[in-house]
Amino acid sequence: MSVSIRWPVSRGGLLAFRALVALAALLPLALLVSRLVSGDLGPDPGQELTESLGLAAFQLLLATLCMTPLRKWTGWPGWIRVRRMLGLFSFFYVVLHVLAFLQFILGWQDVWATFTKRPYIVAGLAALLLMVPLALTSTQGMVRRLGKRWKTLHKSIYVVALAAWVHFLWQARSDIGEMVVYGAVVLLLLGLRLWWSLAVRHRFAAKKP
Ligand code: HEM
Repeated sequence: MSVSIRWPVSRGGLLAFRALVALAALLPLALLVSRLVSGDLGPDPGQELTESLGLAAFQLLLATLCMTPLRKWTGWPGWIRVRRMLGLFSFFYVVLHVLAFLQFILGWQDVWATFTKRPYIVAGLAALLLMVPLALTSTQGMVRRLGKRWKTLHKSIYVVALAAWVHFLWQARSDIGEMVVYGAVVLLLLGLRLWWSLAVRHRFAAKKP
């Protein structure tokens, strides 16, 4: 199924779309800075900062995973043009999230012991570590150099999404309604990939003599 809308395809149109997406991705940071400056981060600013940065990272990760379905349904190449940028913004927020945690909650002592002691942090750490090679290989040069292996490597974003969601769910204290909704979105986005790959296999098998 695809939607027929006249999307902008000119260079200028795509550039404007990229700029708009970059601004949208920077919005959570701008809002946090403005709340910080005006002293509006609540009774525990460090905790609020850490949580808001983590949520922005997770939402941007999901936005990254939405780009391929949107491209398939609309046929517009602009979605794919912003996919890498969204992934990098997600990584950027993850780094800020972990730095905020170290600076305002944990402190810089016994970092490794804490990271490996609490199960929800182990899940977050796994997601972070898996994101590092994705960020490092996101350049055009690396896409060319790795060839087919690039696609295989970047499939680990599905594991990142699952690990990040487990981390999100596990750190919840009481109400997990929000986490369940996000979990449904993660499952839907990963389920779509599984569906497509099964459909391709089915078509391939049907063509075989
Ligand atoms: C070493 C890696 C990580 C550490 C140490 C870490 C640490 C934390 C901490 C301390 C919290 C707050 C828990 C609380 O309220 O007590 C948190 C929440 C959260 N983290 Fe992480 N995290 C890591 C990686 C990640 C990654 C990779 C993502 C997503 C891509 C992520 C997304 C979140 C989200 C969505 C929350 C919940 C925010 C909310 O309650 O609104 N974290 N994390």
